[in-house]
Amino acid sequence: MIYKQEVIDFYNARTNYDNNVTRDRAIALFDYTTLFSGQSVLDVATGTGNIAIEAAKKVGTNGSVIGIDIATELLKIAQQKIQAENLSNVQLIEVDAEAYQPESNKFDAIYCSYAIMLFPNIPTILRNWYRFLKSGGYIAFTCSSEDSYSALLIVEACAKNGITLPNLHEPLGTPDRIQHLLTQAKFNLIEIHSRQMGTYLNLEKAQSRWNGQFWLHNDNPLRELEPEKIRLVKVSYDDAIAAIETEQGVWHEELIYYVVARKT
Ligand SMILES: C[S@@+](CC[C@H](N)C(=O)[O-])C[C@H]1O[C@@H](n2cnc3c(N)ncnc32)[C@H](O)[C@@H]1O
Repeated sequence: MIYKQEVIDFYNARTNYDNNVTRDRAIALFDYTTLFSGQSVLDVATGTGNIAIEAAKKVGTNGSVIGIDIATELLKIAQQKIQAENLSNVQLIEVDAEAYQPESNKFDAIYCSYAIMLFPNIPTILRNWYRFLKSGGYIAFTCSSEDSYSALLIVEACAKNGITLPNLHEPLGTPDRIQHLLTQAKFNLIEIHSRQMGTYLNLEKAQSRWNGQFWLHNDNPLRELEPEKIRLVKVSYDDAIAAIETEQGVWHEELIYYVVARKT
């Protein structure tokens, strides 16, 4: 599948991903959840293991953590960090999260930080997670508003050039949609905490955030585009960004939802 390979290549190349900013953003999920000694945890799309490592410390040696991911290079970094911390209760598995099928009622908690939007079939993954959880267990994940990362301006720039671009952040892009998808998957006691992580960027930086072609999505029409068409899309995007410039710069929205939901 082209899309999954794109995801693997993209994240394998992002070995500089492991920094304090991404770590702090991930472990902020623990501001809304509590793990106890002896619990069993799954960290879906663990990347460099930020959540898995923190969870392993919290559940202690009587507990256990499984971290899964498809990006080999990030898992290597995670493994080094686990060894450096001398943790014996974390297991990493290289597997597509959408294909991972452990036994039912296995985990007390399932975490997924900055990754759920990358799964093409979100209703199915939520139903799976519900099944993997023990009764009383919870899922905790982050997702972004649909207009974060200038996504809507990118979609509009494509539309201006006759291209229908699906937005990765659309399915979980509003609190109502999050609530609806979780309810459909039978989750209860849903909490959605918003955090604005946006910043002002200067015009050049804001425009350089998108090259007119790159887009992680299963159905990505930009893959096949001729260079001249890409150039036109990029011009439309740069114009749209220039149009929202203010004295402070260009607002770059990053509205993150920290979501917790339970199997009761
Ligand atoms: C933005 S990173 C987040 C990593 C980590 N959760 C964190 O917050 O530090 C997204 C991660 O999702 C992983 N990923 C994307 N699609 C996946 C899939 N289908 N199965 C497993 N991992 C996947 C990527 O390899 C990458 O490590």
